[in-house]
Amino acid sequence: MSSRTDKDTWDISTSVGQTALFVAAARALEAQKPDPLAVDRYAEVFCRAAGGDAAAALDDADADFPLRTEWGGHFVNFQGARTRYFDDYFQGVAQAGVQQIVLLAAGLDSRAYRLSWPAGTVVYELDRPRVLQFKRETMDSHGDTPTAERREIAIDLRDDWPQALRSHGFDPSKPSAWIAEGLLIYLPAAAQEQLFAGIDALAAPGSFVAVEEAVPMDREVFEAKRAEGRVSGQETEFFSLVYNEQHAPAEQWFSEHGWTATTTGLSGYIHQLGRELPGPGTDARHMLDSNSLVTARKE
Ligand SMILES: C[S@@+](CC[C@H](N)C(=O)[O-])C[C@H]1O[C@@H](n2cnc3c(N)ncnc32)[C@H](O)[C@@H]1O
Repeated sequence: MSSRTDKDTWDISTSVGQTALFVAAARALEAQKPDPLAVDRYAEVFCRAAGGDAAAALDDADADFPLRTEWGGHFVNFQGARTRYFDDYFQGVAQAGVQQIVLLAAGLDSRAYRLSWPAGTVVYELDRPRVLQFKRETMDSHGDTPTAERREIAIDLRDDWPQALRSHGFDPSKPSAWIAEGLLIYLPAAAQEQLFAGIDALAAPGSFVAVEEAVPMDREVFEAKRAEGRVSGQETEFFSLVYNEQHAPAEQWFSEHGWTATTTGLSGYIHQLGRELPGPGTDARHMLDSNSLVTARKE
């Protein structure tokens, strides 16, 4: 399934980098709705700057683009709900007085530009160099400035990112708030363990963490589907990018390390927000049922 290698690399339009553009396109489509779950006004800016499929999807110019299919409609709801959930998380974090924010695999997350941060807040954005470069250049040419102090850390999250964070001024003696949104599936299990352990080691009491996680896909089910010719090109590409591993459910891991954690199932949350769920047994329903949003606070 996965075609990933230990030292693989990418920019915004290749390999794992293009997934940042894909979720940005979903956020842009959510923002176009009359009753959006969340409005990320920069998502469209990024898609237009990148051009190609991501921009065409916004204008409905490509009816076959995955986000324009029935499955895609549910994926857009997913991204809208996920953005809303984590925006609310950061609002709570800011109200609690936390001033160090760490976006692990920031991609095209625009929270450093669009959320209202108290004075003195520093947002650390970790991702691969060319992904961060695309984001910076796009925002600069659009004339936008961050609403907090933004520090880029160009790194591979399979490497020693805690050291890089400290060398950019992160202070482990002060509370911090972390997010791993749309990231874990792109890391092997060992790097997931390193990620959670790194957060725990650098988080002072009173810190927060938010994680999106997915139960790995059953390989036998995937292979059976493929044998029956029921796997689309889009799915094949997706499964070539993910490791399909889970080190440990986030709630369990953080609870065992002195945090108080809560898991919110994505399907239930989307239903609670008033959006229709896909029918049982569909690929879209499986996607939503497999995903959870986890938050935790370190005591
Ligand atoms: C689906 S996008 C999510 C981006 C952002 N968190 C969001 O929700 O919009 C996945 C991001 O993870 C980043 N990523 C994945 N593996 C990484 C790694 N080993 N090191 C650094 N960044 C990584 C990619 O570059 C990409 O920006």
